[in-house]
Amino acid sequence: MSSTLSPAPLLIPLQPEWLDRVVAVEAAAYTHPWTPGNFRDALASGYQAQMLVQGDRLLGYYVAMQVLDEVHLLNIAVAPDAQGQGCARLLLETLDHWSRLQSAKWLWLEVRASNTRARAIYERHGYRQVGERKRYYPVHHGERETAIIMSMPLYGPEP
Ligand SMILES: CC(C)(COP(=O)(O)OP(=O)(O)OC[C@H]1O[C@@H](n2cnc3c(N)ncnc32)[C@H](O)[C@@H]1OP(=O)(O)O)[C@@H](O)C(=O)NCCC(=O)NCCS
Repeated sequence: MSSTLSPAPLLIPLQPEWLDRVVAVEAAAYTHPWTPGNFRDALASGYQAQMLVQGDRLLGYYVAMQVLDEVHLLNIAVAPDAQGQGCARLLLETLDHWSRLQSAKWLWLEVRASNTRARAIYERHGYRQVGERKRYYPVHHGERETAIIMSMPLYGPEP
């Protein structure tokens, strides 16, 4: 899919002064959003966090954490009115490049079993399911749903 975003968006590190906009997109994109504190903790921990912006409009962002030769994608979201235009693909490609520069060998993520759209995007990007955690994510009324664990090698053949 070629991006239809015009003017071309900028990719910049997620900065504290954008947190209000990040939290607003997070709340619009997720049923169980991260709190402002989750984002502040991620920034304070020095996690890799990039956002895609058009002027002062936030299109999307990701947050990732490196552990030795693995990079874990902790959060990725695109504003509902910017979805379907290639923003997630740009963000995932950026994370691939950054991870390679850190000499990471693997990317990992977890996704709700019901999030078929995100799972399809990850699959097309090269991630493969390698496991699952039952009753991992809260749903509502005390119910829980399975987390699908996916990974992608950054060097060598796909698993
Ligand atoms: C999942 C999410 C990040 C995708 O963002 P996006 O910017 O809409 O995705 P893109 O436009 O980059 O689409 C990526 C691919 O999905 C395809 N796609 C776009 N819209 C689609 C749709 N409605 N259904 C299926 N595929 C779709 C695109 O064609 C593209 O394919 P390509 O990479 O082969 O070209 C976004 O829907 C979102 O923020 N969801 C809520 C938060 C969330 O679930 N995050 C993931 C948690 S693990």
